[in-house]
Amino acid sequence: MSESVTPLEQLSAWKALETNAASLKETHLRELFTSDPKRGERLTAEAAGIFLDYSKHRVTDETLKLLLQLAEESGLRAKIDAMFRGDKINITENRAVLHVALRAPKSEKIFVDGKDVVPEVHEVLDRMSVFADSIRSGKWLGYTDKPIKNIVNVGIGGSDLGPVMAYEALRHYSDRDLTFRFVSNVDGTDFAEATHDLDPEETLFIISSKTFTTLETMTNAHTARAWVLGKLEHQAAIAKHFVAVSTNAAEVSKFGIDTANMFGFWDWVGGRYSMDSAIGLSTMVAIGPENFRALLAGFHEMDEHFRTTPFEKNLPVLMGLLAVWYNDFFDAQTVGVLPYDQYLKRFPAYLQQLTMESNGKHVTLDGRHVTYETGPIFWGEPGTNGQHSFYQLIHQGTKLIPCDFIGFFKSLNPLGRHHDLLMSNVFAQAEALAFGKTAEELRAEGIAEWLVPHKTFEGNRPSSVILTEKITPATLGKLVALYEHSVFTQGAVWQIDSFDQWGVELGKVLAVRIIPELENTDEPALKHDSSTNALIRRYRAHK
Ligand code: F6P
Repeated sequence: MSESVTPLEQLSAWKALETNAASLKETHLRELFTSDPKRGERLTAEAAGIFLDYSKHRVTDETLKLLLQLAEESGLRAKIDAMFRGDKINITENRAVLHVALRAPKSEKIFVDGKDVVPEVHEVLDRMSVFADSIRSGKWLGYTDKPIKNIVNVGIGGSDLGPVMAYEALRHYSDRDLTFRFVSNVDGTDFAEATHDLDPEETLFIISSKTFTTLETMTNAHTARAWVLGKLEHQAAIAKHFVAVSTNAAEVSKFGIDTANMFGFWDWVGGRYSMDSAIGLSTMVAIGPENFRALLAGFHEMDEHFRTTPFEKNLPVLMGLLAVWYNDFFDAQTVGVLPYDQYLKRFPAYLQQLTMESNGKHVTLDGRHVTYETGPIFWGEPGTNGQHSFYQLIHQGTKLIPCDFIGFFKSLNPLGRHHDLLMSNVFAQAEALAFGKTAEELRAEGIAEWLVPHKTFEGNRPSSVILTEKITPATLGKLVALYEHSVFTQGAVWQIDSFDQWGVELGKVLAVRIIPELENTDEPALKHDSSTNALIRRYRAHK
């Protein structure tokens, strides 16, 4: 239950933004830049070593003033305070939302139901550190006394995407003598390919599941157990080759993992906000406890920036408000996330769960169907690869796609001219999207008249450019927290619960009902719609 609030569209800032958007529809970024030569320096913000250029957005000072007013009228300040205070802002699950506590220093106190949760967070971190060190130093031995060389994280959604993304992003800092694999899909191919060249005697599985009931993860975990026992033959091997990360101790021990080898977290950590909890165990083993703590410190720095900085200089707030602007006033359906660093190749996939599981909601906190658009579709690929694939549509297609370009001043692999060539593309793409190329410019170049329309770039396509020094554990933490809090800002404006995920339930329930219909040898009496019935019959006939 929640108290009712003023509907979003009745807020005065919302109404004023509608008028502002209508007046801006025909205004080109070229005009905005020409009329304000300092725009490119003015519409920027910097905090925690992250620089944001938001000048290439279709906004005026009036727009920005109204967006900030919208944040105020939406009660964003009070909502931020409520989250950091540990209030149960995930109202449909009656839970606090405290991923920020996962990276709080020991000196902080954050209460849930009257209990300070910070000491528990640090206790788990300390246990994780001991475990990670014992693997990294070769002290943790498998059942046949061989050191562990391979770590396989088994998990899905937030129990997979964060660990994979962080491992890929921080590979440079990882122990190269260890092999890391990630199994998520219930498709047996995932497990088979991840383990085909591994020796069970040298392999440790981290079974990562908040609930420890997720179909995919439990299926893969049982397959992993059979794989290990297939070679090692004794149940006692399980204790040496399996650890668990979960909130569900009962299910962990039912599976056969000693709870002494379980790393816990709490119901106030959402799956998609959990890469900095014990779910990050594989990350910690890969990069070491010290680097993991640097990652947490990066998160915390951005948390503090979000919590304390006035909205007009607050990076996540600005990004969140700009996302609302295009989504609700320009009919933009999607956001492109374009990291110009190969290490961030899984960052867009990670953001997809963070953003879309959080803000893909169609009712407000007080249960009304929204009358405006909520969460946009996030997608992307690292640059420059995307340029040779889908950028054509961003430049000359009919859809407005605001983009986030993410670039770094320094490469972790400085090779000849590579990094300058890479970064020249960041700046060039943002420039081309904003300013385009006019028919007059083409004619001046002598382009044949019939080709002019094809070669014209309308421009006026908005983007942010985010720059920071180089990929480090700390910068990764800052970047993830930047998006987490941008998502929070959007959800606060849209008056939705960004922290539940009921939308994934129905499909899971129906799949469980269908499993026996595929496996039974007797012809089952199918009670689905005619399409589902026919598909199941066809599958049974051909499998
Ligand atoms: O399918 C949705 C979801 O609940 C995600 O929110 C979560 O990250 C994922 O499943 C995995 O859940 P678990 O960690 O409990 O296995």
